[in-house]
Amino acid sequence: MKQKILVAGGTGYIGSHTTVELQNAGFDVLIIDDLSNSNIEVLDGIEHITGIRPDFVQLDLKDKEGTRKVLEQHPGIKGVILFAASKAVGESVQKPLKYYRNNIVTLLNILELMPEFGIEGIVFSSSCTVYGQPDILPVTEDAPIKPAMSPYGNTKQINEEIIKDTIHAGTPIKSVLLRYFNPIGAHPSAEIGELPNGVPQNLIPYLTQTAIGIRKELSVFGDDYNTPDGSCIRDYINVVDLAKAHVTAMNRMLDGKSEENVEIFNLGTGRGVSVLELINTFERATGVKVPHKIVGRREGDIEQVWANPERANKVLGWTAQETLENTLKSAWKWQLHLREKGIQ
Ligand code: WQD
Repeated sequence: MKQKILVAGGTGYIGSHTTVELQNAGFDVLIIDDLSNSNIEVLDGIEHITGIRPDFVQLDLKDKEGTRKVLEQHPGIKGVILFAASKAVGESVQKPLKYYRNNIVTLLNILELMPEFGIEGIVFSSSCTVYGQPDILPVTEDAPIKPAMSPYGNTKQINEEIIKDTIHAGTPIKSVLLRYFNPIGAHPSAEIGELPNGVPQNLIPYLTQTAIGIRKELSVFGDDYNTPDGSCIRDYINVVDLAKAHVTAMNRMLDGKSEENVEIFNLGTGRGVSVLELINTFERATGVKVPHKIVGRREGDIEQVWANPERANKVLGWTAQETLENTLKSAWKWQLHLREKGIQ
């Protein structure tokens, strides 16, 4: 009998890649997504890859009674992976209440409904933004949580605390908090990938749209940081590697291997790469030039962060595998696929 997992926000970038890896691992998947920042065609992409079309319900998870009805219609869910959230750092500064309501109410509903339906565990999509600018690099899970640089980052910190307090109060569930660094790339089939609405905020979609000619030039937000080439440093992790970590975390929880009721893992490669290095690596890997210029710093950017992934490697039993070159090639292949489909 296949175990069923609820993927909340499963038509999104990381949710769709995680659905593929859950299916590959033998899980049944139910996706609930309001399609506010994704397209239903993603289900076709998932089915083209795995041959299995996940169950899907379009619903805003802030609707608790609606969510309860869906769980009644889909009994036997063992675990939930919560991706569903608003995630644009800049927008969260302009519309904080949208972010606090959407990202927190969604979690509250899921936590309140889990015990009613015997759902044993929740894997939560968190972020390295909880660390702010770490004092020590690479950053470990024990690093101090710093005041969030944006309402988006604050919702990640608040949601981690809500999960810890709920479990500490005795709710009979477990949790794994996965702190992502910078997810990039696309499934090697190019059937699914990152599909931002409007002008991309994140680096890679903007870079590949510039490389293909949709954007005129990539702006590099500052080269006067205290880094070797002056541009910001991040830990860019392949999205398929990231998705596989969610399957490992879910199996760990459901198989009773979690050492604590709440476990936290940094999901990164352990390697810091600057914006200018990344551009050069893309150009070498693909042979495609990326017109770019240096402009002023972007408000809210931290200077440099990369993971110490030892706990994920040794305790969770997961290690990022894909090279940066191949990951950037997958992002480019996806951009070419979008053009073939006339999407971008
Ligand atoms: C990366 C680097 C920019 C665009 C955010 C969130 C994080 C996660 C990923 C959701 C920075 C530079 C970017 C551009 C640039 N969000 N850049 N020109 O800000 O590290 O992380 O997105 O899951 O939680 O905080 O990612 O891709 O926006 O920026 O120079 O046009 O690229 O300054 O140094 P970021 P990013």
